[in-house]
Amino acid sequence: MDDRIITKEKLEEDSYEINIRPETLDDYIGQSEVKENLDIFMKAAKMRDEPLDHTLLYGPPGLGKTTLAYIIANEMEGNIKTASGPSIEKSGDLASLLSSLEPGDVLFIDEIHRIPRFIEEILYPAMEDFVLDIIVGNDASSRNIRIELPPFTLVGATTRAGDLTSPLRDRFGIVSKLNYYTIEELSKIVKRTAKVLECTIDDDAALELATRSRGTPRIANRLLRRVRDFALVMGNGNIDLNITKIALDKLKVDSLGLDNTDYNLLKAIIERFNGGPVGIEAIASSIGEEQTTIEDVYEPYLLQTGLLKRTSRGRMVTKKAYEHLQIPVPSKFEE
Ligand SMILES: Nc1ncnc2c1ncn2[C@@H]1O[C@H](COP(=O)(O)OP(=O)(O)OP(=O)(O)O)[C@@H](O)[C@H]1O
Ligand SMILES: [Mg+2]
Repeated sequence: MDDRIITKEKLEEDSYEINIRPETLDDYIGQSEVKENLDIFMKAAKMRDEPLDHTLLYGPPGLGKTTLAYIIANEMEGNIKTASGPSIEKSGDLASLLSSLEPGDVLFIDEIHRIPRFIEEILYPAMEDFVLDIIVGNDASSRNIRIELPPFTLVGATTRAGDLTSPLRDRFGIVSKLNYYTIEELSKIVKRTAKVLECTIDDDAALELATRSRGTPRIANRLLRRVRDFALVMGNGNIDLNITKIALDKLKVDSLGLDNTDYNLLKAIIERFNGGPVGIEAIASSIGEEQTTIEDVYEPYLLQTGLLKRTSRGRMVTKKAYEHLQIPVPSKFEE
């Protein structure tokens, strides 16, 4: 399996994502509930001449959190300043970010659950009262000073909402969960991206690509770029169904979009744990993946497709998993 196609990491080549990112809410496909709400909240904030309330976006990788943060800044006509949780190592890092803000700016913090706790506390008064409390001087003669901040919007993104402390989480006025996209939505995204990349794709080919993209726009766009190569070299450049199927098979993307790790995970539960139930730690060590990676990247999609179930006693595969892997279904899995 080409692990470079389906991966939670952002790859070098994804710098091209900047060009294919939708820039307005209208252009942002799917997530209709999140979109409709944000649209109202942004309009209301504009009517009151206030910044949008602080917004937390969470959900699996590649579903459009960063894209949405940029759209918010664009729609609110502010600038966006970006940082990521792990890059904020000292209180000074966050203090200088905050003090660089101008009225109406969006401060986007990716992987916000990874800000160290002692630094996170600086965010509380900044979010609530738009002030920055800092301590200056050394131990003997230190004093607190308070700096007023302009009104701004903090947009936080995370794949692990559960890892956020409740004081931080409670300070977000808007909390939105992004969900996996439907095949129809993904197929629209694929067609939109094809247009931006100036290539043509048949409707049935877009649908096939969408079906095999794990409900994830980033994967759909990545696959599109690879399929486009096959179309150019093997055909006349137009992406049709036949070429799409050949290309995706060569890339070893299966009919549900599962990759090697998905297979290993399901197989491990079936072969080593009789189909489950089994704890996540045992699964992680048996396939040599990190528990958090399984929880954030692999499991949500397997649950969504109904190949995996969570029970009070652990994870279990389903009858559908046996069938998909073409392994005889044991009697305890027959409904
Ligand atoms: N609703 C959408 N409509 C069109 N394209 C989208 C949409 N959502 C995401 N994309 C495309 O998918 C790519 C990945 O999205 P994005 O980088 O925003 O994901 P993310 O949720 O921030 O992922 P991560 O958790 O890895 O940071 C974007 O470059 C964009 O082109
Ligand atoms: Mg992102």
